[in-house]
Amino acid sequence: MDDELSGHILDEYPFTGKIGHKIHFFEITDSTNRVAFKLAVEGAEEGTVVIADTQTKGKGRLNRAWLSPSGCNLYLSIILRPNIRIDEAPQISIVSGVGVADTMLSYFPSSVSLKWPNDIMMNDRKICGILTEMRVKSGRLDFVIAGIGLNVNMLKEHFDDRLLETATSMLLESGKVYSRINIMAVLIDTFEKWYNTFLNNGFQPIHKFWTDHAYGIGEMVVISFKDTVIAGKLKGLDKDGALLVEEGVGKMHRILTGDATVLKTPKQ
Ligand code: BTN
Repeated sequence: MDDELSGHILDEYPFTGKIGHKIHFFEITDSTNRVAFKLAVEGAEEGTVVIADTQTKGKGRLNRAWLSPSGCNLYLSIILRPNIRIDEAPQISIVSGVGVADTMLSYFPSSVSLKWPNDIMMNDRKICGILTEMRVKSGRLDFVIAGIGLNVNMLKEHFDDRLLETATSMLLESGKVYSRINIMAVLIDTFEKWYNTFLNNGFQPIHKFWTDHAYGIGEMVVISFKDTVIAGKLKGLDKDGALLVEEGVGKMHRILTGDATVLKTPKQ
């Protein structure tokens, strides 16, 4: 399947905002995050976007691989240079998730939710993953790369058996084929709107959107990171972006990194 995402089409598209004013398109690359990181180290401006039709070494969170077949999905990385403290940088992950979730809401108004830290879920399946990577230079946050992998026109046969249980795409959810360039345009616009909201008004509006669309609040959740596992009730997001999980009665954990598995109570 090919819905024509090419350097030529991207050149003609009127991206008028800060994000997307400069776009580097690759038919094939190892990882758009790696390319964007390199460009950022070399001084690329905020808002520069790296996008590929396919990736040979797509990177997921926690050192996982990101399946990146050609001709069907969006794989893009955005260079951001927010003037924030290093300890605030993880909030960019949440901002990015909110930007993509809000994009998905314009296509699927009722079934989009956000699983901490920034998976976008559709009917209990993951439709988009985000990998943020940052560089600190001379004790300051130099840049953040927001790498977005959105399953657009991916078919069942593109997924491996393990992923079929847990992942989905826009096409699988609706039966429709989407134009990737159009989705990308909405995504860039919406992402910029939320990024600017964060820069101008702080984390509170982001926190509100996330909470209003959170996946699994009140459910049991298992958080794993390296050798540590915490199980408890998912309470929500702290005002700085940490996940709040209550173990037993009243023992609250603030989780800053890890993987969350929500154990959903079956609907009656
Ligand atoms: C996750 O594990 O959920 C995060 C997946 C992030 C994948 C995207 S695809 C574009 C960008 N380039 C990469 O190598 N990874 C991110």
